[in-house]
Parts: sequence; structure tokens; C-alpha cells
Amino acid sequence: MAGLLLYCRSGFENDVANEVQDKAAQLDVFGYSKTKANSGYVLFNCYQEEHAELLAKQLKFNKLIFARQQFACKQVLENIDVADRIGPLLAACEGFPLCGELRVEYSDTTDGRELSKLCRKISVPFRQALRKKNKLTVKDNSKKPVLHVFFTKTDKVYIGYSFTHNNSPLALGILRLKFPHDAPSRSTLKLDEAFQTFIPKEEHDVRLQGGLYAVDLGACPGGWTYQLVQRGMFVQAVDNGAMDEALMETGQVTYCPEDGFKFQPKKKNIYWLVCDMIEQPQRVAKLMATWVAEGRCKEAMFNLKLPMKKRYESVQGALAIIDEVMKANQTGKYLIQAKHLYHNREEVTVHLRLP
Ligand SMILES: C[S@@+](CC[C@H](N)C(=O)[O-])C[C@H]1O[C@@H](n2cnc3c(N)ncnc32)[C@H](O)[C@@H]1O
Repeated sequence: MAGLLLYCRSGFENDVANEVQDKAAQLDVFGYSKTKANSGYVLFNCYQEEHAELLAKQLKFNKLIFARQQFACKQVLENIDVADRIGPLLAACEGFPLCGELRVEYSDTTDGRELSKLCRKISVPFRQALRKKNKLTVKDNSKKPVLHVFFTKTDKVYIGYSFTHNNSPLALGILRLKFPHDAPSRSTLKLDEAFQTFIPKEEHDVRLQGGLYAVDLGACPGGWTYQLVQRGMFVQAVDNGAMDEALMETGQVTYCPEDGFKFQPKKKNIYWLVCDMIEQPQRVAKLMATWVAEGRCKEAMFNLKLPMKKRYESVQGALAIIDEVMKANQTGKYLIQAKHLYHNREEVTVHLRLP
């Protein structure tokens, strides 16, 4: 058995399965997923053993929407002796390349989190054992593969490795953020995570700098506006609802009680358009693409709300609309990223801009 193991938010297993099937087929890799509802992971079994590693290298992680992490899974161990887990784990790594980091992980579910203590406990002795066997570099090395040990029960584990050019650098694939005590809503973390995920850190000074002008469609109570204001931007907050008073007192926010679909900015030099309106994904996609294609903003960050069952298909539909609008406007190449972020629920976040 070999396949690609992918982590996701509990409840999104079918979306991951549909996505990996689709994107693996584009690489001429075929297989099948067996999903367990609310397990927080999916194993895509490859019909050909060597395809697991091919997917881990070539199935572009940053193009996957619903997966938080992926690794080539080489072994599944069941009913392992809980008195000596290290022995069988070590044996399972026999044919592995030299790795530069070990991550002992669990799924982000209530049951999964109960295994966190065990994972922590096992990490130190297993790391030492791997080093003794020359399976792990003496010091962590970010150029070498990451060895993943993923527990789903105290005696069941999936083992394999990922490649640092094509994985999440984060434990469990999760970006943990502290909720700022003065932010008006928890939604604020979604935009913070989106900026940190989609905009390379070394470009924050330019693309997220103070003084830029932004428009926030569906702004109330102001969690997203808060992120823009914190970075020193000036925001036109569009919504008929009530805006957080402390944000208004900063003097950086202009409140516009209007329909986000009809809104025309008062200033022309808008850099960021952000949008968290609860609306059909196709409508939001069309609006966002029109703003970017017509040069009404430089970059757009927006959520596509997905209350429906077939989420992967809905996102694909919305992305196709963006493509149509961009082509109709003859924009040429455009840059787009979409991800189901850790702080998202039934929605994905999309970033769109022209190069
Ligand atoms: C999920 S909330 C936004 C939360 C906000 N991003 C935050 O962090 O506080 C969605 C908002 O979209 C607004 N909205 C929905 N449709 C809209 C429209 N057509 N025009 C303007 N605002 C709209 C709603 O009034 C609501 O306040």
C-alpha cells in the first residue's frame, strides 16, 4: 500500500477526496480514497506504489484548496504493540530517504487531540532512535524531507514523508494565531491568516504597508477592517450593519452604508479590495474578478461561502467565472490562490491579482 495522506478540517473529507482525485488525474495518477466522515484526514491510495512519492513531489500543495498538509504515506501500521512502538515505527522507515525533521502528529478532531500527549511523549525517543539509524539528520535540516508519523489511534499509525518545497511548514498544517483582544470579531483571524498564507513575508512591507487605501465589502462589525487599520491602511467599510466604534475613532475608516455589489469607491487609488459578504460564490467571484480586471484595485482577498454539500465543485465553478471575466477583459496571466484556511469554516479564502 502507498498513497497520499492529506489533513483537513473535520467534515471536509469528501471535498479533499474529490479534489485529490481530480488533480492527481491531471498528473496521470489514478487511485481511490476511502474517507471516514469527520476524521480530519483522507488517504488517497495509488494503484501504483511509486505514485505516492510522485504526488508528494508534483501535486502542487499550494494549489490544493481543501488540504492542510500532504505526505507520501508508505506504511500503515495497525495493532502495534503499545509497550514498544519505537521498534515497529523504526522498521517501517527502512526504505525512507534521510529526513531533516520529524513530526509526530494527529488529526485536528476531538478524538485526534486526545492523542497529542502520546505524540509528544513518543517524539523524543523516536527522534533519537532515527538519528542512531541515520534516518534523521543530527540537526533539523529544512532542505531534507520531513518524516511524518500520523497517529489515528494509540495503536494505529500512518508513516511517510513530505518534501519541503511542496508541503506546509506548520505542525498539523495549522497556523495558530492569537485573537487580538480589541478586535471586533473573531473573523479578524481569517484575514490575518490569509495575509500570512498568501503574501510572502518579505513582501509585507510593500504590499501591506501603512498608508495604502482599501475597500472592505461586507465589513461589519469590522474584524477585517481591523486588520487593515492595524497595518496603517485607510479603509472604506461598506455594509449596512453597525461598525465597531473604536475602529471608527481611529480616523482611518470611512463608513459607507451601501450595497457592496453597487459600491463605487470615492478614491481611485485603491490597493486592497477585501470582501466577506455572505453571498453566492459565483456572484462574489464575478464581482471580485471585475474589480481586479478593470484595475479598480491592485489585489483582492475574499471569501467564498460554501454552505452547500458539493463544496469542491462550487469553488471550481466560481474559479471558472473568474477565468471567464479575466479572459473577457484580456488581462493576460493572473495570479490566483485559494485555500480552506484553519480559521475558515464553511468557506474558502481566495487571493487574486494581476502580476
Ligand atoms: C460575515 S459578515 C462580515 C464579517 C466581517 N468580515 C468581520 O470581520 O467583522 C458578513 C457581512 O456582509 C454584509 N453584507 C451581506 N451582503 C451585503 C451586500 N450586498 N452589501 C454590503 N454588505 C453586505 C452583512 O451585513 C454582514 O455584516
